[in-house]
Amino acid sequence: MCGIVAYIGEKQAYPILLEGLKRLEYRGYDSAGISVINSSLQTVKKKGKVSELESVAILSDLHGNIGIGHTRWATHGKPDDLNAHPHLSGDGSLSLVHNGIIENYATIKQALIDRGHTFKSETDTEVLIHLIEEYKKTDALSLEHALTKALTKVVGAYAIVVIDKNNPNELIAARKSSPLVLGIGDNEFFIASDASPIIQYTKKVVYLNDEEIVIAKNDGTFTIKNIHNEIQEPDIKELDLKIDQLEKGGYDHFMLKEIFEQPTTIAESMRGRLNANEGWVSLGGFDQFQNRIHHAKRIIFVACGTSWHSALIAEYLIEDLARIPVEVEYASEFRYRNPILSEDDLVIAISQSGETADTLAALEIAKERGALLYGIVNVVGSSIARITDCGSYIHAGPEIGVASTKAFTSQLVVLILMALKLGNKRGTISDAKFRELLYGLESVPAKVQEILAQSDKIKYIAQEIKDRQNALYLGRGINFPVALEGALKLKEISYIHAEGYPAAEMKHGPIALIDENMPVFVIATNASAHEKIASNIQEVKARKGLVIAIVSEGDTTISKIADYTFEIPYIEEQLTPLLSVIPLQLLSYYISVMRGCNVDQPRNLAKSVTVE
Ligand code: F6R
Repeated sequence: MCGIVAYIGEKQAYPILLEGLKRLEYRGYDSAGISVINSSLQTVKKKGKVSELESVAILSDLHGNIGIGHTRWATHGKPDDLNAHPHLSGDGSLSLVHNGIIENYATIKQALIDRGHTFKSETDTEVLIHLIEEYKKTDALSLEHALTKALTKVVGAYAIVVIDKNNPNELIAARKSSPLVLGIGDNEFFIASDASPIIQYTKKVVYLNDEEIVIAKNDGTFTIKNIHNEIQEPDIKELDLKIDQLEKGGYDHFMLKEIFEQPTTIAESMRGRLNANEGWVSLGGFDQFQNRIHHAKRIIFVACGTSWHSALIAEYLIEDLARIPVEVEYASEFRYRNPILSEDDLVIAISQSGETADTLAALEIAKERGALLYGIVNVVGSSIARITDCGSYIHAGPEIGVASTKAFTSQLVVLILMALKLGNKRGTISDAKFRELLYGLESVPAKVQEILAQSDKIKYIAQEIKDRQNALYLGRGINFPVALEGALKLKEISYIHAEGYPAAEMKHGPIALIDENMPVFVIATNASAHEKIASNIQEVKARKGLVIAIVSEGDTTISKIADYTFEIPYIEEQLTPLLSVIPLQLLSYYISVMRGCNVDQPRNLAKSVTVE
């Protein structure tokens, strides 16, 4: 969603801001803008891509050593030049960029209109900068104190940066429920909504906490305060991120790079966490609270989208291997449902970004009610990583393509390890099965590599499917969530309508859709339900549907009845989702490219959904 970048120091701000906005493009946006201070405050804003902003910025004088930039994903007001950020105060002296939503903006706006303010845009953000201006003038406050006062009046989420043309020596930023990182360079500071615009300049960062305000000055000093004006000790961290992780590295798209990275990222998620020969699994997050985790009466997963699909797979695994009851909740529903929770519950949040607003809110409710919170997160230092009592990073590295791929398989690795560790401790899984699955896990990176080596076969199938308008995905048992994930991948990047179903549910409605125009993808790798899946495929064929089946190597039954089959290497059934999802990711990718869609930044989507 929206992205923020800001700079103060000795360098020219504009090139840093522009480069930063390009790094933030992956988050999803529909307009962009920049303000810099030189002899006055210069602001350019444009609907569309950063490249379009660049082409109008060239006409303005944007030199100066302090500035702010923004990519906007529209919430209040359509995507256009006027609603784009930065927004200015009524007298044009202050400029603000904002991520998040000010929920009570309408009431504040009316009060400000009554006091003579006029507004140019439909946004909640413009209301906030006018409120700051109002306090600055009527209460004769400094920018810092006016901003602090304004923040005590607003309800909602914000990450903001403000500059004042009358004081080009400082920039002020603040956050609540929307991430903000301060980068500390030599006599220069960077502020951004994630570390991607900062990493090429410095590795020293401070992740701001909720209701913290940072004042960064061009004399090389900075101060962090809370909203009650109390100075906070900065927790300076070293970024473990390399610039080439943010580049396409020769691939046409980030999504393709991330699909092909999976042999490595899956291995990274396992590194140091298991040893099949010695028969152990280690998950650091467990140790601190192992008693409560091992004796949890119930596990509740909260997540959204692809991460929710991972949770569904975890439900099969944990119930099967560790015999603990599991519930899987859409975070957006859980948070508004008055859930019944106790100290005996373990609530696990799964999130690539670690910033998903609904997942965070679900955790806050679970925390209030005494449950133990565990985070399975990719982005280090993210809000979910910090609010949870304990957790495990998935170590997939930055995921830039909007469609989640490598984060999904790395989440599965951690969840499988979790199920195995719990099962082993609780004595609900035999030692032989425990070791067999560990050996199986160790073999996954090489098997994923084998699948990727057959990408041409997938390309061929994609060519056959690319002009269809609809698709069905069917799976059984642990591969039912893979069907959901396959359908989500296809619809989000190729705009083909797709639905995932448990294969047996087909007869209860979706079968009515099947005719010669309906491609049906069937994940048919489950040994335990092989005959039943074969029957489902017969039912589709009897109605002239086009069947594309993902099968285990050596399967001779299904290849006789399906129109196309794609073989994945043999693996224990509990581990099949790690392999069966790969051809489906590739298929969506190739179809999207063939249809001329924007693979990495599909329309209307944001990488990190920081508003509900
Ligand atoms: C789908 C996708 C989204 C995310 C969802 C949750 O490809 O990327 O469905 O999975 O928005 O995001 P995180 O995992 O960051 O909480």
